[in-house]
Amino acid sequence: MAVKLLCLCLLLALLCLSWAKKQTCRTSASNCNECIQSGPECAWCDTPNAHTHCHTLRGLQRQGCPEHHIYNPQGGVQVVRNDSSTEPVGAQALLLQPQELSLRLRPGVSQSFPLTITMPTDQPITELTMDTSSVLPVVDITFSSIKEGNPLVTQVSVEAARCHSGSDDSNQNSTGPWSVHITPRGFSQSVKLEISLECQCDCMKSREENSPICSGNGALVCGQCDCSKLNIGQYCQRESDYFLPSNEDRCRSGPNAMVCSGRGECVDGYCVCNERTNPEERNTGQYCECTNYDCLYANARICGGQGKCDCGQCVCDDEWTGEDCTCSMAIASCMATNQRICNGKGNCQCGVCQCPYPYGGPTCETCFGC
Ligand SMILES: *[C@@H]1O[C@H](CO)[C@@H](O)[C@H](O)[C@H]1NC(C)=O
Ligand SMILES: *[C@@H]1O[C@H](CO)[C@@H](O)[C@H](O)[C@H]1NC(C)=O
Repeated sequence: MAVKLLCLCLLLALLCLSWAKKQTCRTSASNCNECIQSGPECAWCDTPNAHTHCHTLRGLQRQGCPEHHIYNPQGGVQVVRNDSSTEPVGAQALLLQPQELSLRLRPGVSQSFPLTITMPTDQPITELTMDTSSVLPVVDITFSSIKEGNPLVTQVSVEAARCHSGSDDSNQNSTGPWSVHITPRGFSQSVKLEISLECQCDCMKSREENSPICSGNGALVCGQCDCSKLNIGQYCQRESDYFLPSNEDRCRSGPNAMVCSGRGECVDGYCVCNERTNPEERNTGQYCECTNYDCLYANARICGGQGKCDCGQCVCDDEWTGEDCTCSMAIASCMATNQRICNGKGNCQCGVCQCPYPYGGPTCETCFGC
């Protein structure tokens, strides 16, 4: 009883293992080609909102991927020519049926067809030969007898182990079609096979550049966004970290500006401005670009002692003007004895009369040669 139970358990475990093996598909494939090449059980869902694009057929169906959005080529056999004999059986001619086929192979999925060979009477059992020199070595063709005698029937199975990879001889074209002739030894008739590999997704050939689905930052290919270098995310919706300005760059007022204008420290992308030993002096602004001490000096005083330094510019007190606040707006010094500014002849600038020729003197009251 215990032995029976153990056997049953083992059998179940084996069944589960084989089922699990059948259902696995590497989901890290980055595109449709990689997906279908990664295993015969892998299928591709080309809807942009797919949870995962590459999974088993069942996995994609469970995700809710619509059937017509699932790309899962399994290959197939198409009989191109299958003529029956017009001659009576027993004639001297050899008859092969079918005569021409086209086979599409998904690597890992075998395709087969029965080949009927009707031989002329009294011929020994024939051996099949083929010329596979044009086919990639990944393609394997095998025969197994279904019916002995005459006519004899042989099952021809064709399978590709894998897709052609970039490291293989690149002179060979990678998906065919290739022609193979199966010929019974000693005869001239043959069966022609046209073999091609299902290793490329057709959808990979069309790219919708700057697709709105990809936030305008990438191309939509097989329902998947191929983002430009600057963007990442399922819909290229995020800037890639590589190109995000570093925290330090956020502390610059321009691309070539100094971090925090050289007057502070960048902490988490924000400037913390240096303090000055003189408590009256301050660095301010988003990039510490402003100071209240870095202004023009006149008469050994900032802003001539007649204004305040505001972000590098003198803001002059009333009665004073000019870049360094040394220009008086008072007119008393320009007043002539006749109570007219600069004697009515010139302009009062910074408390000094600018007299036109021939007038002169502090208030334009002197006339040269008058
Ligand atoms: C070819 O035709 C014969 C009938 O003439 C049929 O029995 C056979 O199945 C066909 N072979 C294939 C591979 O379709
Ligand atoms: C591959 O080669 C075959 C013949 O060797 C040719 O018919 C076919 O067009 C080629 N395919 C490509 C994609 O070059």
